[in-house]
Amino acid sequence: MKHFLTITLLIILCSVTRGSQASSKDKCYTCHLDTGDKPTELFKNDIHFKMGLSCADCHGGNRNSEDMDSAMSKAAGFIGVPKGNAITDVCAKCHASKEKMASFNVKISTNQFDLLKESVHGKLSINGKDRIAQCITCHGAHGIVKVENPLSPVYPLNIPKTCSKCHSNAVFMRNYNPKLPIDQYDKYRTSVHGILNAKGDPKPAQCESCHGSHGILPVKDLNSSVYPVNVPKTCSKCHSNKEYMSKYKIPTDQYEKYSQSVHGIALLKKKDTGAPACNSCHGNHGATPPGISSISQVCGTCHALNAELFAASPHKKAFDKNKYPECETCHSNHLIITATDKLLGVSKDAVCSKCHTPEKSTKGYLAAKNMKAMIDSLETAQKFVDSLINNAEQKGMEVEDEKFELRDAHQAVLEARTAVHAFDVKKFDDIVVGKGLSVTAKVSKEAQASIDEYYFRRKGLSIALIITILLAAGLYLFIKRYEREQNKNT
Ligand code: HEC
Ligand code: HEC
Ligand code: HEC
Ligand code: HEC
Ligand code: HEC
Ligand code: HEC
Ligand code: HEC
Ligand code: HEC
Ligand code: HEC
Ligand code: HEC
Ligand code: HEC
Repeated sequence: MKHFLTITLLIILCSVTRGSQASSKDKCYTCHLDTGDKPTELFKNDIHFKMGLSCADCHGGNRNSEDMDSAMSKAAGFIGVPKGNAITDVCAKCHASKEKMASFNVKISTNQFDLLKESVHGKLSINGKDRIAQCITCHGAHGIVKVENPLSPVYPLNIPKTCSKCHSNAVFMRNYNPKLPIDQYDKYRTSVHGILNAKGDPKPAQCESCHGSHGILPVKDLNSSVYPVNVPKTCSKCHSNKEYMSKYKIPTDQYEKYSQSVHGIALLKKKDTGAPACNSCHGNHGATPPGISSISQVCGTCHALNAELFAASPHKKAFDKNKYPECETCHSNHLIITATDKLLGVSKDAVCSKCHTPEKSTKGYLAAKNMKAMIDSLETAQKFVDSLINNAEQKGMEVEDEKFELRDAHQAVLEARTAVHAFDVKKFDDIVVGKGLSVTAKVSKEAQASIDEYYFRRKGLSIALIITILLAAGLYLFIKRYEREQNKNT
């Protein structure tokens, strides 16, 4: 720290002497210093001044003349006060020219002007002649300092205000894009990023971290850093960077996990923009997405039915009381994988057994066990009927109607997987038995009849028929048993 201070002081001293050497020769500066105008006051701390540049490097004119009129004459190249796009042209003279910048012996990028021209801010402003933003809109004209200087308007702590000059100004923004919200700044200040930024920590994300600076594109542009498919990479610049995040006590595995999740695979691999990116769950600017009071409820914005059932289930109250997050408790947050029947029940892999055991929380234990048995039986029955239908079809029988009817049983399985979230055996039973097993029973009878008919036509019963009858009887008993067990439990 001490070293750092001495070095900084030395640098400042050096540049001040360099600046004043240049300035004594710079008659624009010396005369203007006497007039005491504001640009000159500000210019004293300007990086350009410290580099030995003159007022004339931007305004033109003859810097060696002490005579006001000849110094500031058109003949000497004086351009007066630049306006509109001419402002950026002045800056671009140096900042867009590799040779020019190299002549000052500095190594900074020279792409700002090219990026700005292609950006959303490079579009024509309402007067139709000039860009929405010029270089000085964000950097100022006099008193420009290096961007890592805390006094710079583009230093991380100051960026939110710099962007919001326009973006929080309803009257200004209405002229361009009335549909664009103007609440980014207010919301940002409610987020962890914005709160830490306001406390003076430059590391958490601010506007530029997510949007960039010179080449900002409309959100809908496929190349925008905040286009859904690009968001995870934008956030992980920091959140996957162990070194950058080392002083914070949070994990850095979100991207790694997310990219392997159902959501990550759908968005990043299948380019399905219906799947959530980081900001779908965490919000763009605010702490949580609009309309969500707590991130534990964010899943319901897309999985509405699951959330509705959960809210009416016995878990709602129990989870609230114990402060378990709603969906995350069973599905996790970043590494959400495809849900299968394995999650249900009382085996080791099942989520229910994390909390429900035969000794503790017995009712939930029995419910989990029964629900699992029901969905298993529906799926077994379905497979069995499928094979019956196949068999009949192979024998050349007409089974299109049966196939069609069986779709209701497939539907019941899907419905049941969602209906799990009511955590209610009776309601589960209504779907599994009421909609599912009743269909499989009916279709199996019909398919069997087709097969019977086939053998009847071939005169004489074969051994196969006996087997299938036995199987059908088995199924019947199978269903009955679960119904009985069901009645016992309710
Ligand atoms: C001898 C004093 C003197 C010198 C030398 C001088 N100026 Fe000025 N300048 C003034 C005064 C006084 C004004 C304000 C009166 C006016 O607007 O004409 C002014 C005005 C300006 C303005 C504002 C013009 C406007 O249209 O509002 C700019 C820009 C400027 N000077 C730049 C320069 C530059 C660049 C140089 C060197 C090439 C320079 N001046 C040299 C005294 C000086
Ligand atoms: C890095 C380029 C740059 C340098 C160097 C520079 N100016 Fe300027 N100056 C500008 C730009 C751009 C504007 C237009 C600002 C605006 O439209 O708000 C401007 C505006 C002005 C104005 C009129 C508006 C105002 O802010 O009052 C004066 C006077 C002026 N400059 C004087 C000077 C003097 C004197 C110096 C040297 C001490 C100087 N400038 C150095 C870029 C520069
Ligand atoms: C919309 C606001 C905005 C506009 C307009 C803008 N800048 Fe910047 N500029 C920033 C921000 C924010 C940073 C700091 C972050 C970064 O380095 O990208 C920055 C950084 C810089 C840097 C130093 C870092 C670097 O290597 O890029 C230079 C030089 C610069 N800008 C020049 C310009 C020039 C020249 C223009 C006009 C062609 C311009 N800027 C227009 C916001 C802006
Ligand atoms: C005569 C050439 C020249 C002109 C014209 C010029 N600059 Fe610069 N600018 C420089 C040089 C040289 C540096 C020093 C770069 C460094 O030290 O990294 C610099 C530095 C900067 C920086 C700080 C970059 C950093 O490293 O943090 C910003 C911002 C900047 N200029 C913006 C502007 C703007 C805005 C304009 C137009 C109003 C402008 N410049 C006009 C030459 C110029
Ligand atoms: C001079 C005022 C101004 C400043 C300063 C400004 N913007 Fe903008 N910005 C606008 C306007 C106006 C639009 C809308 C353009 C349109 O839609 O035609 C816009 C558009 C945008 C968009 C695209 C919105 C969309 O359509 O999807 C983003 C993102 C954005 N700005 C971010 C920023 C950031 C970040 C900063 C600061 C580094 C910033 N802006 C600084 C005026 C400004
Ligand atoms: C943590 C990342 C992040 C930060 C910080 C951030 N934004 Fe955004 N911003 C986004 C995302 C993501 C979107 C895209 C929203 C979408 O898909 O509709 C967005 C959208 C926008 C838009 C388009 C309109 C809208 O509100 O949807 C504007 C304008 C904008 N941001 C400006 C800003 C400004 C100004 C700041 C600083 C005060 C800022 N942003 C800070 C991520 C961020
Ligand atoms: C410039 C680096 C940076 C970028 C980019 C960034 N973040 Fe952050 N983020 C941070 C830092 C630093 C923290 C503070 C860590 C802490 O909470 O202590 C943070 C905190 C958070 C937190 C709060 C963590 C907690 O519980 O404390 C969330 C959530 C978050 N970021 C999400 C995102 C999302 C989503 C994006 C992308 C849209 C994003 N961040 C982009 C740096 C960044
Ligand atoms: C499907 C929703 C969802 C998605 C997508 C998502 N998150 Fe999260 N994230 C959560 C939930 C829920 C939490 C836990 C919040 C809590 O308990 O307060 C969380 C926690 C966090 C935290 C706090 C630290 C931690 O790991 O617990 C950070 C940082 C974070 N997420 C960043 C990200 C980033 C970066 C992405 C994208 C790569 C992302 N999240 C994608 C829902 C999501
Ligand atoms: C922006 C909308 C959105 C949000 C928010 C969201 N999801 Fe998803 N989710 C989807 C989409 C779309 C899919 C299907 C992905 C695919 O194609 O496989 C999915 C798939 C799933 C799956 C796998 C479904 C299956 O059939 O196996 C689970 C489990 C899941 N999400 C749980 C959650 C949880 C828990 C949350 C909150 C932490 C959440 N989702 C937040 C849209 C969302
Ligand atoms: C107590 C544990 C538990 C909780 C809490 C829970 N789920 Fe599930 N979820 C499951 C189980 C078990 C399955 C698998 C059912 C099956 O396939 O047999 C599942 C399946 C799913 C599926 C895939 C089936 C479908 O409906 O498409 C989604 C999506 C899903 N859950 C979302 C959510 C959401 C959203 C929440 C919060 C509102 C949530 N889950 C809360 C246990 C839970
Ligand atoms: C995070 C712990 C947790 C998990 C995981 C969990 N439960 Fe529960 N469950 C509870 C708590 C707490 C109650 C409240 C009653 C109690 O304490 O037994 C409860 C109650 C129930 C009830 C109502 C029982 C009654 O008293 O009427 C049913 C049914 C139930 N759970 C089923 C399930 C099923 C099925 C699963 C797996 C998909 C599951 N639970 C997973 C904690 C959990």
